[in-house]
Amino acid sequence: MLLLLVKSDHSVTLGSWLAVLACYALPLWFMSLRIQNPWLVKIIATVKARISKFIYRLWAKEIIRDAYSKARGQPFNVFAPESRLTFVSSAEHINDIARAANDELSLHSASKALLKPGYTMNGFNWHDQRGVEGIGFVRTLRTLLTNHLPRMTLGVRVIIDRNFAMELEKKEAVNAFSLIKRIVTKISGLAFFGRDLMEDEEFMRAALKYNEDVLYGSEVLGLLPKFLVPIVGAVMPRFLTCQEKLYNGLVEVIEQRLRSSNSEGHEDVIQWIINTSPKATPWSAGRIAYEVMAIWFGSVHGLSTALTFVLYNLCAHPEYIKPLRAEIESSAVDAFFMTGEGLPLLDSFLKECSRMTPVESVTTRRMALKRFTFSDGTRLEKGDWTCIPVGAMLKDDTLYPQPDEFNGFRFADPKLFGETKSVQPEGPSKFTDVLDNWQVWGTGKMTCPGRFFVSYVMKHIMLHILENYDPGLVNEKAPNTITWRSLTLPRPGVKINFRPRE
Ligand code: HEM
Repeated sequence: MLLLLVKSDHSVTLGSWLAVLACYALPLWFMSLRIQNPWLVKIIATVKARISKFIYRLWAKEIIRDAYSKARGQPFNVFAPESRLTFVSSAEHINDIARAANDELSLHSASKALLKPGYTMNGFNWHDQRGVEGIGFVRTLRTLLTNHLPRMTLGVRVIIDRNFAMELEKKEAVNAFSLIKRIVTKISGLAFFGRDLMEDEEFMRAALKYNEDVLYGSEVLGLLPKFLVPIVGAVMPRFLTCQEKLYNGLVEVIEQRLRSSNSEGHEDVIQWIINTSPKATPWSAGRIAYEVMAIWFGSVHGLSTALTFVLYNLCAHPEYIKPLRAEIESSAVDAFFMTGEGLPLLDSFLKECSRMTPVESVTTRRMALKRFTFSDGTRLEKGDWTCIPVGAMLKDDTLYPQPDEFNGFRFADPKLFGETKSVQPEGPSKFTDVLDNWQVWGTGKMTCPGRFFVSYVMKHIMLHILENYDPGLVNEKAPNTITWRSLTLPRPGVKINFRPRE
């Protein structure tokens, strides 16, 4: 039934849902109005809570968007499986979150509750409070990886060329998400683990499968009643074996590097995590492996999904191919190869695709570690969550004029395409910017440190596609996304025709 109900744009799904509502939910709600027996009232309340959580899993995006438009900028509450979520969206509230101390609001606790790393990440149980063991991962990604990007260019281009050629050797139409995921995993593998491990097929298979295992494993555990979580969680590693394989593979390499006197020659995330780890109380190889595994999980899935949506949008709006090609065939591309940044029209196109089809419609999740009061008096009790309704904000006409219209150059300098006035009231902006109306990367000191890598990888893959193909969806009319909780995901089986460029 679960699979039947995963929402696509199909009317069958809506029909199934109405049937469930008619059979279970409505009678229960009705019964609860009349029943006096305290035990029955308790049972019905539990069933009602379960149904509400189930509804959230299927319709989170719509529920949040509806509540956002009614709230008109004020905080509002939504009941989600993990907790009651207090959504805030004004600049003042966002600033309150950004300025909260590490012992007040915690992204780490919220992520732990969602991902259940104790069962899905080989037993890693990170601290609730950020910074207890340093934040070397931020310097690793935000500074060291970003600065290293131009030196990765040759390797990245070879990976993209080779994988497209292999995939399209015998056929033009391929599953877009699978191809993108394979290429993104390879590029991320090069950045995270270095060339040798990236070329180890077995290790990379485990690394790719591990990301999926964390997603599905944590979702299965989230569907269970609390008392069953440790029981099912304890047997889960027997089925989700990739977490152990990835961990063991990483520990072996890290131990070698810790023993070796000239490991400084490595330029990858493993090495930078080693170099930035606490000096006073040195980490074991296992602790370093856990850190790498935690950030590896955040890396591949969101990036591959967001890039797949860029491809869908390019197929739906082929009129952008010509100006984007003109840009990549101009001297702007040399600057991009040299610095890893630039290509402002492509940058705006990527940003507009992420606005139209954001992977996540909720961001900046924080769990209150103690009572927290926003500057307007809105209060969170210990254990409550707050978040930002980013999906709804990206379609808000007070923030984005004509929000339902795809405007690929909305964020670019208008002079670049012969206009004088910017569509956006705040003027041109970059994909990687963090602004009050662009909360895609989160907020404050926890803004995504991997966003420069995201932009770099997306641009390289798009560059290759624009240089070589005229892409088109095999089935233009079929829905190409599904939603689960607050996530939008590529619909399985969506194929793209990569016709060689005319
Ligand atoms: C399209 C892809 C991505 C999106 C939309 C995205 C978005 C986000 C968001 C919303 C946050 C939370 C910020 C907050 O709560 O304030 C975050 C945190 C984070 N992201 Fe990303 N991210 C993406 C890809 C990546 C990649 C590729 C990496 C690694 C290379 C990465 C590494 C991280 C890390 C380590 C954090 C935690 C930051 C901290 O705790 O200080 N992300 N990201």
